[in-house]
Amino acid sequence: MDSQTSQPFIQIRDLRKTYVMGRNKVHALDGVDLDIEFGSLTVVMGPSGSGKSTLLYLLGGLDRLTSGRIHVDGQALEQMDENALAVYRRRVVGFIFQSFNLMPTLTALDNVAFPMRFSGIAPKARRKKAFELLKQVGLEKRALHKPTELSGGQQQRVAVARALVNDPKLILADEPTGNLDTASGFAIMQLLSDLHRAGRTVLVVTHDPRMLQFATNVIYLLDGKTVSQAEYEAASTFSQPQEITEGNS
Ligand SMILES: Nc1ncnc2c1ncn2[C@@H]1O[C@H](COP(=O)(O)OP(=O)(O)O)[C@@H](O)[C@H]1O
Ligand SMILES: [Mg+2]
Repeated sequence: MDSQTSQPFIQIRDLRKTYVMGRNKVHALDGVDLDIEFGSLTVVMGPSGSGKSTLLYLLGGLDRLTSGRIHVDGQALEQMDENALAVYRRRVVGFIFQSFNLMPTLTALDNVAFPMRFSGIAPKARRKKAFELLKQVGLEKRALHKPTELSGGQQQRVAVARALVNDPKLILADEPTGNLDTASGFAIMQLLSDLHRAGRTVLVVTHDPRMLQFATNVIYLLDGKTVSQAEYEAASTFSQPQEITEGNS
């Protein structure tokens, strides 16, 4: 699929994202360089607040960078206007969130079909494709159920099916197993691994070490910067195993 050049599928250079909060600035990403090959499965690790979600949001075209470059499949995201970015999101990216983000009033089938509404595909064909995708994630028997009638693991499988609906080359998953029990979390990891083996490029933010067995590479983030595994482990040794949350300063 990625035939034209030897450029990596994703190329990130000196990427910065700064949030301004009143007089304070938060450097969520502070000069990130990354090359990610087409068809790889990358696990992104890092403590809370290290910039993992920011990295995925920028890659997914859900937010704008402050400076630097993000090239995906030969397209320069930093040069896109809002319309071009919307097209990029729809055509290139499938996003999976920790909280599933399904529409509560729609059935599983209609949740999956929903992103195809601008695709020019006829409604009947959309539902057929949505059903095929639900089958692929093992949920064909739940197609007409609403999210509240599904378990967390089933809801996340619906979200995976929905992410696939426009046949994206890039799958971005932000802590997709964070709200799931051990077994359904592992089922989601296996699904992501299947997508990677079927030729898609996958980036997963996760704290679950079971994902590492499926990974082709691992990115370690600390304070908005990528670090080596050794640096990451050295820093982890001195911090609490539990993440420190805000509000205790
Ligand atoms: N919309 C925002 N406004 C202000 N600060 C933000 C916003 N989003 C994230 N941040 C800050 O940027 C840093 C990185 O956040 P994030 O990417 O969510 O980290 P992670 O996903 O690794 O927990 C944190 O300090 C966070 O508080
Ligand atoms: Mg996050």
